Amino acid sequence: MNRKTDTPVTVIGLGLMGRALAGAFLKAGHPTTVWNRTTSKADQLVAEGARLAPTVGDALRAGSLTIVCVTDYQAVYELLGVSDSELDGKMLINLTSGDSAQAREAAQWAEQRGAHYLDGAIMAIPPAIGTAEAVILHSGPRSGFEIHKATLDALGTVTYLGADHGLASLYDVAGLAMMWSVLNAWLHGTALLRTAGVDAATYAPFARQIAAGVAEWLPGYAEQIDSGSFPAEVSALETDVRAMAHLIEESEAVGVNAELPKLIKAMADRSIAAGHGGEQYPVLIEEFSKPRND
Ligand SMILES: NC(=O)c1ccc[n+]([C@@H]2O[C@H](COP(=O)([O-])OP(=O)(O)OC[C@H]3O[C@@H](n4cnc5c(N)ncnc54)[C@H](OP(=O)(O)O)[C@@H]3O)[C@@H](O)[C@H]2O)c1
Repeated sequence: MNRKTDTPVTVIGLGLMGRALAGAFLKAGHPTTVWNRTTSKADQLVAEGARLAPTVGDALRAGSLTIVCVTDYQAVYELLGVSDSELDGKMLINLTSGDSAQAREAAQWAEQRGAHYLDGAIMAIPPAIGTAEAVILHSGPRSGFEIHKATLDALGTVTYLGADHGLASLYDVAGLAMMWSVLNAWLHGTALLRTAGVDAATYAPFARQIAAGVAEWLPGYAEQIDSGSFPAEVSALETDVRAMAHLIEESEAVGVNAELPKLIKAMADRSIAAGHGGEQYPVLIEEFSKPRND
């Protein structure tokens, strides 16, 4: 990573994640100012060389770049609101988790106070911060990201997604959808196999191979979605639905929870009823792209 180590940075919020972020800046050599509502959480960082600001205003004044990482957006407004005049001209990166509407609203709030604002999402756990494994997403004006990228590199693999401040949050939840879907599918398969005495560790390598194989299909399926054309090149949805019925029947026969495949089959059945049975699986994007109204 190309790191710039002399930029003063401020980290506001020293929970588990904020402490990891400040620690990574310190480790990379950045003069690091910190602030937290509960002051004692700064002790270790101060021992490592951080400067503890007495107030949020002092913290904002100290660095050209301020990272805020607290529980939620309400906390961001509560703590920055009292010193909002200090935001003028400052670069603020909010790595607090939230939704896309909250991110866009916070961008307006910060920009009305003269700040340059990027919203971000951390797709990593605290121990990974400071390593390439930690993916940190940013959205908002590109210029703000470019100016500070070399400093942000201290945190992990930092990525810019686009000018819409809501993008980082949207990618964040899209990633959660992927993560839980893969885990849930694995748990369901593991529950099935355990009924025959196969333990989780035996099935895990097979499951991993299947997940990796399915992941290979994504670029081709994405082309179908983007072009809005779903020719059944390898399998038609009506064939897939017969396999779904098989999965449900097997689950029920061996006493395993079948709620998940029933949910997916119900979506596929609606798609077939709408005339898409002869098309390929990604045609289900149309079911995923609308709320369930009935
Ligand atoms: N931990 C993870 O694995 C992880 C991964 C990805 C993203 N994140 C995101 O990172 C953010 C922080 O998570 P965390 O794990 O660090 O949480 P945490 O350990 O619970 O820390 C929460 C932080 O928010 C502060 N805070 C809460 N309400 C406040 C208020 N009204 N005014 C001032 N400060 C307030 C807390 O201050 P006090 O210390 O005074 O209570 C503390 O610094 C969250 O949005 C979380 O979703 C976390």
